[in-house]
Amino acid sequence: MRIDIITCQPGLIEGFFSQSIVKNAQTNGHAAIYIHDLRKYGQGNYKQIDDYQYGGGAGMVLMVEPLANCIRDLQKETVYDEIIYMTPDGVTLNQKTVNSLSLRKNIMIICGHYKGIDERIREMFVTMEISIGDYVLSGGELAAAVFTDALVRLIPGVLNDETSALTDSFQDNLLAPPVYSRPASFEGHEVPPVLLSGNEKNINDWRLEKSIERTRIRRPDLLDF
Ligand code: ADE
Repeated sequence: MRIDIITCQPGLIEGFFSQSIVKNAQTNGHAAIYIHDLRKYGQGNYKQIDDYQYGGGAGMVLMVEPLANCIRDLQKETVYDEIIYMTPDGVTLNQKTVNSLSLRKNIMIICGHYKGIDERIREMFVTMEISIGDYVLSGGELAAAVFTDALVRLIPGVLNDETSALTDSFQDNLLAPPVYSRPASFEGHEVPPVLLSGNEKNINDWRLEKSIERTRIRRPDLLDF
């Protein structure tokens, strides 16, 4: 999968993409992630990328021309399956959406800043608008990092044990069951004996039961389908 991210604050996410699973995914050739600095497309001596909004009101808007030029430059090299704008007024991201988008080959992500981006970019280029929750961040960068992480870990081969993404919370509309590691006893808190039994069927039954119990208590809405 190829992911191109357009941002006016590359420093906010560069570190994120050079660490851990997302870094390994790139090193192993499963994902190619490119960060594009919108400032390079800025206008005039000051490389201007934002301006006041027509009609007045507080807050700057990312201008249409630098963004359109950047998008078009990227489109010269790559045909995108999806051009996604990260925004609090987009559709709220969930595992189902991540699963289906993980099958795409080329994705472009646009990060907004300040008051947002000129509406014409949304009309002319954007194919999908995604929010990571009902709260407002200072920009789309952290949202893009969250979304990219969720996507990349689903690419086959990225996680060491491929099945581990399948047993994540939200796959099958269930939260994940509790997990334990050594020691079996810690300050009077014991690991459930079934997990030490070696009986795979009993272990799977216990995990499913705990998943359902946890989902019923914490997220009953997930069971209403
Ligand atoms: N940009 C600012 N807030 C956001 C959010 N909640 N989701 C996605 N992008 C955003």
